[in-house]
Amino acid sequence: MCPTLSKLEKVCSIRDLQALARKRVPKMFYDYVDSGSWSESTYKRNDSDFNDLLFRQRIGIDVTQRNTTSLMAKTPVTMPVALAPVGLAGMQYADGEILAARAAETFGIPFTLSSLSICSIEDVARQTSRPFWFQLYVFKDRDFTRQLMERARNAGCNTLVVTMDLPIMGQRHKDVKNRLSAPPRLTVSSLMQFLNRPGWCFKMARTTHRTFGNIVGHAKGVTNLRSLAVWTSEQLDASLNWKDLEWIRDQWDGYLIIKGVLNTEDLNRTIDVGAQAVVVSNHGGRQLDGAPSTIRTLAGIVEAANQQVSVLLDSGIRSGQDVLKAVALGAQGVLIGRAFVYGLGAAGQAGVAKALEIIHKEIESTMALVGETEIPGLGTHNLIIPGHFSI
Ligand code: GLV
Repeated sequence: MCPTLSKLEKVCSIRDLQALARKRVPKMFYDYVDSGSWSESTYKRNDSDFNDLLFRQRIGIDVTQRNTTSLMAKTPVTMPVALAPVGLAGMQYADGEILAARAAETFGIPFTLSSLSICSIEDVARQTSRPFWFQLYVFKDRDFTRQLMERARNAGCNTLVVTMDLPIMGQRHKDVKNRLSAPPRLTVSSLMQFLNRPGWCFKMARTTHRTFGNIVGHAKGVTNLRSLAVWTSEQLDASLNWKDLEWIRDQWDGYLIIKGVLNTEDLNRTIDVGAQAVVVSNHGGRQLDGAPSTIRTLAGIVEAANQQVSVLLDSGIRSGQDVLKAVALGAQGVLIGRAFVYGLGAAGQAGVAKALEIIHKEIESTMALVGETEIPGLGTHNLIIPGHFSI
């Protein structure tokens, strides 16, 4: 049997995939994913707060026929999960974005391509057959930002996810210590990391996708690694505000999702701007350390949204149980980042498929044990919620 498949046979959980990814991916790129900003308190809380929510077990209900399909941001899905935008996914495994997009397509859920991907919009479009979602950073170079939207539209993307919670980059200490870059700088330490990861190097040597594919050759003056480093450090826009969102709304006639909403004040601005959906997100604990977990803020946002926008959630989802807890609290669906990236790092497309299978199976089994047969049937009646859980 092929070593990748036999390795995956014993995998039972996303944590198992994480352990495999840690062994296969060079440290600087593994650390980039498994990290939060500053003390990582929000990063950890995103995950652990799910444990404070308990399920209500039910018995005596016929749960033979269970259906996990639903609708998420107007997209029919085989389970209420989409792949979140993750920067540098193509550094976890060669051609990572293409492989993850294919796995999502086969499974019947949306894939979201990051602006800061390694494979470009056009690379992913060429290798897939269904429209994917595109995540936009509003760069200072507005003409380049406009071109990104145009390229996404030309590639068939119908859904734009605008990330609003990164006007500046939260500091992740591991990235500073590892001197992270794409492609990586060749130092004694990085060379040692690569020598210890021959499988990763072998695949990476066979692809041409090793730097930010959406930027190099497209943004003005970015032709090589040096100019790319300068460009990316200068292009995050701390002035990003709701007027810019109106500009985006005018440029983009497709479905618009705003990512990074953590309170009702900002929710109301997204509604005013005319977005159709929001993602309750703290960027996986990678931006404002000390912000609350998304699962604790979800119910208040769902209530305030009052069905004027669809509410999705990301940050901290590591299992099908987490997906169902978010859905029971009113999310239309969730985006998973690390949960699929660990699969990607562990075994490429097969690893992402394995992550999705695991989550799907957990969703199906948990539905049986809480006595539900359809996703829309889930609600707070399926949970035991401690006092003061939602904030
Ligand atoms: C970019 O989105 C990052 O979190 O590194």
